[in-house]
Formats: sequence, C-alpha cells, structure tokens
Amino acid sequence: MLAVDGHAATARRESPHPASPVLWDRPATRKNRRAGALVLSGLDDGDTRGVHVTAIDLSPRLIELARARDPGATINYQVGDLSQPRPGAAGRFDAVGSYLALNDVAEYRGFAATLATSLKLGGRLALAFNNPYSAVTDRHVTDYFDSGAVSSYRGLWESGIQTYHHHRTLENYLDAFHAGGLRLTKLTDVLTRADSHRPDAYLPPGGRFPYYMLLAFSKP
Ligand SMILES: C[S@@+](CC[C@H](N)C(=O)[O-])C[C@H]1O[C@@H](n2cnc3c(N)ncnc32)[C@H](O)[C@@H]1O
Repeated sequence: MLAVDGHAATARRESPHPASPVLWDRPATRKNRRAGALVLSGLDDGDTRGVHVTAIDLSPRLIELARARDPGATINYQVGDLSQPRPGAAGRFDAVGSYLALNDVAEYRGFAATLATSLKLGGRLALAFNNPYSAVTDRHVTDYFDSGAVSSYRGLWESGIQTYHHHRTLENYLDAFHAGGLRLTKLTDVLTRADSHRPDAYLPPGGRFPYYMLLAFSKP
C-alpha cells in the first residue's frame, strides 16, 4: 500500500505492521521544497522490531533538508543516483515508493531496474508520476510518441526552480518495469489537480484530465 498525504511530514511510516511498510514524502511546492524524492522501505534482515526506512535522492541539498526535518534520525537518508545499480540494496526491501521523481530522472530504464532489483520477491512498488498523456495536453510535447523529449517545467521555472520534465510513453515505462521482473497490479488516474491545468493546456474550459498517475507493481 502506498499512501500520499499532503499534510504528512517529509517522510513517515503509516503502518506499524512490519510486513506492510508504507511511506511517502510530500510533494515539493514552490515555497516548501522537500527532499527524499525516492523512498525505499523495508525490513533489515533479521530485524522484526519495526520497519526500517531508507530515503534516497540525487540531490545532496534535498537530502540535507530532509535530514534536518528528522532530528531523531528515524529515516536513513542517502544521496544516490538511482539510475545506477546499487548492489547493496539488491533484494533488500519489502516495498519501494517513488513520488514524483520518474519524470525528473534522465535514465529511466536504469531507475526502473534499480527499483525492481531492490525489492525482495513478493515485494511491491508504487509510483506516482505525471500522466504521460498529459505531456501533450500540457504542451511538454506536440508528439506523444517523441519518447525521450525533454522540456522545462514552466511553472517551476517561473518560480526560479530550473528543472526538466522527461517525457516517455506509458508503453515505454511499463516495458522498463516489466523488464525488471515486475508485474503491474493497478493503474490509477488521479483526480487531484485534474481540473487545474495551465491556461494554455489543450483542454476545453472546465475540462478535466488526469495530471498524475499511480502505478502499482508486484515482484512475483
Ligand atoms: C520533482 S522532485 C520530487 C521530490 C520529492 N519526491 C517531492 O515530492 O518533494 C524530483 C526529484 O527526483 C530526484 N532525482 C532525479 N533523478 C534522480 C536519480 N537518478 N536518482 C535519484 N533521484 C533523482 C531529484 O533530485 C528531485 O529531488
């Protein structure tokens, strides 16, 4: 299970049950940047006292901010490039969650492989990311099939955060996670913000279109 809570702290556990570790982090906003873009969770081998949470992000600055919000050091924050193999994490985690990181990752196949490899057999992965089809309606691309196209996040640039959106088709994403041995168990079109696209979006007035998508996978 993956839960997303806009009022949550940077990252926290939801379930006290060690077999169902759940965690998330909060979306970055213009005024409130949070770290821990990607969160891995799981039990350390042999430890049944509780869930151990590891949070990894490419950005040292975001990790530093997240650590500052966790004075009790309940989360193991690490700086790391998740598009590269992490042998120490292989088969270690019961659950992996990635919240709004996939569209920022340059090498999505490596990212998918690392997440898949990090799971134990029977483990689960939850991904929240931009609906690939909204890349057209929100003018990131004019050609949906232009997988690999890079464009700026205009809203963030306007507020001084220079970051890029990487477009890939949904088919490409699913292929990448399936190649890692994962099986899709659920796709959710997220209602949140479906009615708050930019004014220049290809949508009729009052139109709704999912901005975000959730995918759940298992590792059989
Ligand atoms: C839009 S931010 C989301 C951050 C966080 N999840 C949140 O909601 O506040 C995307 C994040 O992906 C991270 N990222 C991009 N490529 C990465 C990679 N290869 N490995 C790990 N993190 C990566 C960036 O550093 C950035 O913090």
